[in-house]
Amino acid sequence: MIPVYQPYLTGREKEYVNQCLDSTWISSKGEFISRFESEFARFIGANHATTVCNGTVALHLALTALGLQPGDEVIVPTLTYVASANAVVQAGAVPVFADSVPHTWQIDPEDVRRRITSRTRAIMVVHLYGLPCDMDPLQMLCREYGLYLVEDCAEAFGTYYKGRHVGTFGDVATFSFFGNKTITTGEGGMVVSRSAELHAKAYHLKTQGVSPTREYWHDVVAYNYRMTNICAAIGLAQLEQAGEIIEKKRQVAAWYKQGLKGMPLTTHDEIEGTRHSYWMCSIALEHAGDREPLRGYLKQCGVETRPVFHPAHTLPPYAAELSFPVAESISARALNLPSYPGLTRAEANDICGLIRQFYQDKGEPLRAA
Ligand SMILES: Cc1ncc(COP(=O)(O)O)c(C=O)c1O
Repeated sequence: MIPVYQPYLTGREKEYVNQCLDSTWISSKGEFISRFESEFARFIGANHATTVCNGTVALHLALTALGLQPGDEVIVPTLTYVASANAVVQAGAVPVFADSVPHTWQIDPEDVRRRITSRTRAIMVVHLYGLPCDMDPLQMLCREYGLYLVEDCAEAFGTYYKGRHVGTFGDVATFSFFGNKTITTGEGGMVVSRSAELHAKAYHLKTQGVSPTREYWHDVVAYNYRMTNICAAIGLAQLEQAGEIIEKKRQVAAWYKQGLKGMPLTTHDEIEGTRHSYWMCSIALEHAGDREPLRGYLKQCGVETRPVFHPAHTLPPYAAELSFPVAESISARALNLPSYPGLTRAEANDICGLIRQFYQDKGEPLRAA
């Protein structure tokens, strides 16, 4: 089976993990934590970064550090992984969904504007599948209405908008290092803040709200969201190979783009002024009805795929009689192909060949590749 994802652990991961074991620094203190945080901040050009144990708590911590109050509204794209919306609820606020832009699949700034109310406190953008959101109008909206800008960059390590890495546009941003992410720590996350004050607040909340000067003195109800030194060791080794990993993923995307030409589908392409990190190499079929048969055919041939997320407003906790036609259409038609750095050219070509065969068997007229 060719899987959708496989981590690329070809650097110093083992060596660094062994250093943790040999030194007995296996918990959440140790040199790799601060090394990973400072190298990560340097890589993306952020002011402050603090590690956490996954990307979901990173979002919760970021929103809690902003001081959201019950009844506050946070605008979130409906086309996202459910954790983005869940974190808003877990922070005591209300998610207000917005639709997507058809060709980029990212949150639509015009729809965001329509959904701003007197209760809106923040806009949470999600750089979906490795392409950035259109940050200029979103930043302008935040300035115009005095809103916080939160970036969920779980899927967007290595993604740039107008030459700047994502995560450096908002007041606060989060990353995930789950096993299928572009760089991984097994489970893990990062909270990146623009201000020293927000960074200190996030750090305080992730460490049980303990006083830095008085032992066992906790001045708020807080959390243990710390990352272990072992995870940070893996993260640092991954970061050392980040350039190579991203280039390999971009190469895989280029093979698909070339190999899928002429078929009734579109690839999720980089657009001008951006650098796509291709967390996932996604395609949107012209006909929604083809998606499950195509996935079934690929599965039979040993190729794993994933559907694009269900829009959050269609999931039971958020079920609403609202319509988000762009997100619904993308969600019904799109799927993710195997997208890992180690995928070979021959494997990518075989996958494209199978998709071509699927359409030929259906009698679909194909243009020349
Ligand atoms: C957009 C988005 N946000 C948040 C998360 C949550 O990250 P984690 O799985 O590390 O908790 C993910 C994870 O897949 C994601 O894709």
